Amino acid sequence: MTPRNFVYCVIGISIMTGRKTHWENVYNKHPLTDVSWYEPVPETSLSIIKRFKLPKDAAIIDIGAGDSLLVDHLLLSGYSNITVLDISENAIERAKARLGDNAKMVNWVVSDVLDYHPSEKYDLWHDRATFHFFTDPVEKQRYLDSAHQNLNDDGYLVLSTFSITGPEKCSGLSVEQYSEKKMSDLLSRYFDKIRCITKAHMTPWDAIQNFVYCSFRNRALERGALV
Ligand SMILES: C[S@@+](CC[C@H](N)C(=O)[O-])C[C@H]1O[C@@H](n2cnc3c(N)ncnc32)[C@H](O)[C@@H]1O
Repeated sequence: MTPRNFVYCVIGISIMTGRKTHWENVYNKHPLTDVSWYEPVPETSLSIIKRFKLPKDAAIIDIGAGDSLLVDHLLLSGYSNITVLDISENAIERAKARLGDNAKMVNWVVSDVLDYHPSEKYDLWHDRATFHFFTDPVEKQRYLDSAHQNLNDDGYLVLSTFSITGPEKCSGLSVEQYSEKKMSDLLSRYFDKIRCITKAHMTPWDAIQNFVYCSFRNRALERGALV
């Protein structure tokens, strides 16, 4: 390793360690209903997913799920191959405890999404409010490479971020805001856009946060590489 690469590597490790510590603290201090992103029912995600008409055994992953109730509702809808990934072990343990015996029906992963190298491919990759924390272009690209490579050909991607009229920070961290065009352009190398919608999310303390939800279809690996 050259000295320069060594420095990049050390910086990368310390950013990732800081990221995990941040989120473990958040979930240590704040209960489910005391975080701005809390949704009693993740209605927008559920209605987008419903439109895909996926078979009930479709492989679904929720990226940066925290202790969101999406997994509870997907189980209630009969989906049987769900993976829940988050960088925070506290968040994952809380979601497992809430689900009780049903937690056994879910694959749980504690990992930074950038370090996740699954052995299976997914039919649906869902991410609400995690991708927007990647403000570094290299990390953004690593995330999108991973989504592209770990989705089946024609698999679905749902990305939900703060919109251009949304907050500039979340949980004290800077986020990148997206318009429909900015997100579609960024993803156009690997994904075909299905549609985008904007949604106003009401926090538990009645503040409005504007989100954009875009859904895409994955292009086959060789097609993605050629574009
Ligand atoms: C704003 S919360 C959203 C949680 C959930 N998606 C929801 O909609 O309720 C962001 C989540 O992303 C997780 N996260 C942040 N950076 C991550 C990373 N690099 N890899 C995996 N998870 C991450 C955090 O622990 C947190 O649970």
